[in-house]
Amino acid sequence: MTRHLLSIADLDDAALRAVLDTAAEMHEVQHREVKKIPTLRGRTIINLFFEDSTRTRSSFEVAGKWMSADTINITGKGSSTSKGESLRDTVRTIAAMGVDAIVMRHSASGAAHQVARWFDETGTRVSVVNAGDGLHEHPTQALLDAYTLERRLGSLEGRHVAIVGDVTHSRVFRSNLLSLPRLGARVTVVAPPTLMPSGSRAWAQRDGFTLSHDLDDVLAEGVDALMMLRVQKERMTGGFFPTPREYTVGYGLTRGRLEVLSTHRPDAVILHPGPMNRGLEIAADAADAASSLVLDQVSSGVAVRMSVLYHLLASAEGAAA
Ligand code: NCD
Repeated sequence: MTRHLLSIADLDDAALRAVLDTAAEMHEVQHREVKKIPTLRGRTIINLFFEDSTRTRSSFEVAGKWMSADTINITGKGSSTSKGESLRDTVRTIAAMGVDAIVMRHSASGAAHQVARWFDETGTRVSVVNAGDGLHEHPTQALLDAYTLERRLGSLEGRHVAIVGDVTHSRVFRSNLLSLPRLGARVTVVAPPTLMPSGSRAWAQRDGFTLSHDLDDVLAEGVDALMMLRVQKERMTGGFFPTPREYTVGYGLTRGRLEVLSTHRPDAVILHPGPMNRGLEIAADAADAASSLVLDQVSSGVAVRMSVLYHLLASAEGAAA
């Protein structure tokens, strides 16, 4: 594995499989009474979050702590960036303390790549983990999605996964698009035309996924997993749909669609990366259904992040990088 995890593309097939397999071993720690293994003893991990987060930040923190690392959280609001310090100065300051990894979330696409480049150029041996960069990627979310799906469905070979909603603003979607097909899944992307990134047709042709503007058509075809995306109001500058109600009618996972989903495939599952807008992209009935894996995703998230930290910082190949 490379020193950094910035994109799913940083993982070759062997590394992708290794991260998912190690996650299964790490998951077992979660069920122990004493949740502590010595794997990262003496290592320091900084969570540097310039955007809000509940699950991602806390699960990286829990993952590090269960592996005996020292984990420290820094948020944009409470850091010297609010005094005007540049990102470069902030990360170089943190690196100068001798930390081993920086887990970073930033609203600018490419921010984590830029930080990794600064470190590499100056020979600074700090691993950078991208915990979400703008509209670009969120690799550990895609890994935990894949892990959650494989745990429930077994191999994803030939499975049909529909990713539905605000794909334009979704880094979760972009990372999943890189991982799911490599694990054998067939992917259909469903969004209103206004929330489909420009150039999607050529992109779909090149990368072999299907595009649709009709969720009901896709459900009628039968899907094994429905990944609902959050409507990212905070990233929207204009009117992307007429009213919330119209969005729900066209693209929400309503109670009616939940029934269609399970009629076609009784074992079909629902994913959502969270946080959910209940009543907008997902009805409460769907979010809380037996087929909803939303909380399994959170639980898997800790195991997957333990696995990523292990491969970057502790495994023979990661430590040698
Ligand atoms: C996602 C994110 O931040 O990109 N959330 C998460 O990490 N669980 C998706 C979102 O905010 O909608």
